[in-house]
Amino acid sequence: SENENLELIRASLKTCPDFPKNGITFIDILGIFSNPAAHRALIDLILTRIRKLDTKIDAVVGLEARGFIFGPQIALELQIPFLPIRKHGKLPGKLVTIDYVLEYGTDTIEMQVDILKSGAKILLVDDILATGGTLGAAQKLCAKLDYNVVETLVIIELLGLGGREKLANVDHFTTLFQYS
Ligand code: PRP
Repeated sequence: SENENLELIRASLKTCPDFPKNGITFIDILGIFSNPAAHRALIDLILTRIRKLDTKIDAVVGLEARGFIFGPQIALELQIPFLPIRKHGKLPGKLVTIDYVLEYGTDTIEMQVDILKSGAKILLVDDILATGGTLGAAQKLCAKLDYNVVETLVIIELLGLGGREKLANVDHFTTLFQYS
């Protein structure tokens, strides 16, 4: 059942206190891959949620680094393209770029242009929403290319960091697990 699957997945998401710094609790999402049943349950759960959406999706866009693990699996199952968004300096070709503010300093993410048609309906995927800086910037990056982000999906949402407030179209934000 869906509830059993949720429990199986939650049990394999290990929380690591005081990593990478004192006071921060890290959720080791990659631990899910050490348990094939939990891995299968997670992908099935994501696909069930996506297939329930009203809108047909044209492509999956995923964020470095862990959006690159989950995004292509979803795209393959849906038989649609996957496009990567990377940190500055990693992608070749003509790019669209956006800067965003971190707790200390700024970062830059980029995506290749001319892969999808203007107006393409996008599912944007990352592993975790924390402050929302990364996904908020990724939404704006897609908008720069006139892509239509119809759903934004994360596996884990960390509550209390203002993440959702940074997102556009929060009515179309799917989160599978929340941690406070
Ligand atoms: C993590 C996570 C998200 C982002 C969320 O990536 O995978 O992409 O932070 O944080 P935010 O909501 O505060 O922007 P990280 O910066 O650790 O980079 P990595 O994926 O390349 O390891």
